[in-house]
Amino acid sequence: MEEILQRELDLLGAVNTQILKRAVSFEGDKALLYRANYCCRTALRILKPILVFPITKQEDLYNNINKISWEAYIGNENSLAVDAVNATSVFTNSQYVALKTKDAVVDRFREKTGSRPSVDLDNPDLRINIHLYKETCTVSLDSSGSSLHKRGYRHVTGPAPLNEVLAAGLIQLSGWDKKIPLYDPMCGSGTILIEANMLARNIPSGYFRPVFGFEKWMDFDPELWNKIKEEENEKIQNTIVDIYGSDLSSRMIGIATENVGFTKFRDHIHLEVAAFENTLPKGPAGMIISNPPYDERLQLDDIISFYKSIGDVLKKKYTGFEAWIISSDLKALKFIGLHPSKKITVFNGPLECRFVRFSLY
Ligand SMILES: C[S@@+](CC[C@H](N)C(=O)[O-])C[C@H]1O[C@@H](n2cnc3c(N)ncnc32)[C@H](O)[C@@H]1O
Repeated sequence: MEEILQRELDLLGAVNTQILKRAVSFEGDKALLYRANYCCRTALRILKPILVFPITKQEDLYNNINKISWEAYIGNENSLAVDAVNATSVFTNSQYVALKTKDAVVDRFREKTGSRPSVDLDNPDLRINIHLYKETCTVSLDSSGSSLHKRGYRHVTGPAPLNEVLAAGLIQLSGWDKKIPLYDPMCGSGTILIEANMLARNIPSGYFRPVFGFEKWMDFDPELWNKIKEEENEKIQNTIVDIYGSDLSSRMIGIATENVGFTKFRDHIHLEVAAFENTLPKGPAGMIISNPPYDERLQLDDIISFYKSIGDVLKKKYTGFEAWIISSDLKALKFIGLHPSKKITVFNGPLECRFVRFSLY
C-alpha cells in the first residue's frame, strides 16, 4: 500500500515523499497536515515527529523525553495517551516503553507545576507516538487521534468487517477506473461499496468523521481547518457509475443498507440479499472486488467447495469481468480453479492475505 499512499500524498502537495516500511514520510505545512488527515484514504495515522534521538540504554528514553517542552503541547489540566512501537533490543515490551514515556512527561509537569496531566487511553487531548527502531527513537504527535480507518460512516458491523483503509487501498490497487460497474457479491457491512463510492465521487475520506486529534492541539487553527474542508468538499462530484452489493445474509444487507444510508450519497448503490451462486451481472461487464469468508473468523462447513463454487460462478456467469478476491486462506484460493493474472500480498490486521486478480475473458 505504500506506493498508493505516496501517490495520494504527492497529489495533495506533499514534499519529499519517501517510502518507508509500512509508512511514507513527507514534508509539509500545517495546511497539508490537516489536508492529509482529511483526504488520505490509505493512511492509518499522520504523525508529526518532534524529536529523534539515539537510544542505546533504557534511561535514554526517560531522559530525552523528560527534556521535551511538553508545556508547548498540553496543559496539566489536559489528558494524554502514549502508543509505542518497539523494534529494538533495548526494550522487550512496547507497553513498558509507553509507560516510561508517560512517566517522563508527567514527572516534568509535576516538577514544574506541582500537578500533572491525566491519562485517557480512549479520548486523550494529546496522543504521543514512540517509535523505536535500529537504536533510534522517534517521538511524534499523533495528529489523527484515533486511527483514520474510523471514517465515521460505519455504525454497525458484521462479524468480519474489512478495515476501511485496506478496502480503499484494495480498490486503488485494482486499478478500478471509477467508470465501469463495481460489484461486491459478498459485501457484508458494505465497506468496499462505500469506499468505492467515496472514491468515485471524490468524497474526502474524513468527510463523515467527527473529530481529528489536531483539533485539540494548542496551535489548532479553526479557520484554516474550515478552509481546507471547504476546498476539498467543493471537489465532490456526482457519478453515474453503478455499484452493486449483495450478500447471502439478510442481516448483513440490513447493516450495509444502514451504513450506505448514513453516507447520504447513495443513489447508484444497489443492494440485495442473494447467494453469490444465484447472482447474475446486472448490465455491462464490470469489476468484482470481494472479500469472501476466510475460515479464521467465519465458520464455513466446507471452505474448499465454497471457493470452488466461486470459481465456477465467475467462469460461467461473469465473462468479460475482472474479479479481485482477497483471502487469507491461500489453499482455498487455489480451489477457485482459475489462473490468477496478478497476486498481491496484503495484511488484513494481523492476517496475511492475497489479493488475487482473475481476468475472465
Ligand atoms: C468476510 S465477510 C465480508 C465483509 C465485508 N467486506 C465487510 O467489510 O463487512 C464475508 C461475507 O460473505 C457472506 N457470504 C457467505 N457465503 C456467501 C454466499 N454464498 N453468497 C454471498 N455471500 C456470502 C457472509 O454473509 C459475509 O457477510
